[in-house]
Amino acid sequence: MRLQDKVAIVTGAASGMGKAIAELYAKEGAKVVVSDYNFEGAQAVAEGIKAAGGEAIANRTNVAELGDLENLFAETKAAFGKLDILVNNAGIMDGMEPVGEISDEKWDRVFAVNTTGVMRAMRIATNIFLEQGHGVIVNNISAGGLRGARAGAAYTASKHAVTGLTKNTAYMYANSGIRCNGIAPGGVETNIGASMTGISQFGMGRQQTGSGTMPRVGKPEEIAQLALFLGSDESSFVNGQVIAADAGWTAY
Ligand SMILES: NC(=O)c1ccc[n+]([C@@H]2O[C@H](COP(=O)([O-])OP(=O)(O)OC[C@H]3O[C@@H](n4cnc5c(N)ncnc54)[C@H](O)[C@@H]3O)[C@@H](O)[C@H]2O)c1
Repeated sequence: MRLQDKVAIVTGAASGMGKAIAELYAKEGAKVVVSDYNFEGAQAVAEGIKAAGGEAIANRTNVAELGDLENLFAETKAAFGKLDILVNNAGIMDGMEPVGEISDEKWDRVFAVNTTGVMRAMRIATNIFLEQGHGVIVNNISAGGLRGARAGAAYTASKHAVTGLTKNTAYMYANSGIRCNGIAPGGVETNIGASMTGISQFGMGRQQTGSGTMPRVGKPEEIAQLALFLGSDESSFVNGQVIAADAGWTAY
């Protein structure tokens, strides 16, 4: 029970890594707010947690909408009275487009979800944490937030921005009881491929030249273990780090 009595929000928790993180957090004693814009999916995950003896509620949140985020935090406080851990996990892919092919519309959509939504959730959470005197943020970033061509220009830039946001936040609030770290997963078996539209053949070809160096594809549960460590007090001395979980892919 490494998260006994903690309250956690996990965004994008209807599927993939967010679902695995929500389930593991609940198993470890946390009260979990299962947030996703796929509300039926979020409800199913919350029901599964409760059936297994855990505590969870579902929340319909489009992280690209400020009003939805405000409602998410208000409902969390109303249900559980506090917030200890925010896991920013919701994210979408681009279509592997290099900068010469990216449309303004795609760029804006990817940044709204992957970057601005994360910043806004961090802003609201940080102000709750400052009032409480403690809190932890875990951002699910990507190997694409550390390396140049794991995806297209928009996804890569959106995730690099979150790497910077993670480090800045960690340092700014290092003396205020707040920690902020990131995870950089390599390829993981999830449904994220469904968010890819208008794929660039050129960009895909360039991106794939490095795919052969990926030792293997990971399971969402393997990323959840790192999210558990970073969300728990066991990582009390870890702050401002983006830790790769990729079987050694970024080591090449
Ligand atoms: N799968 C990979 O190989 C991989 C690798 C590195 C990083 N990531 C990152 O991991 C995170 C989780 O992705 P996943 O692979 O588990 O994908 P997934 O598609 O299985 O899950 C993502 C979830 O986020 C939700 N979501 C998407 N847009 C949203 C929005 N605007 N508001 C609220 N919810 C939204 C989806 O409904 C879905 O339930 C993402 O940030 C992704 O960029 C994925």
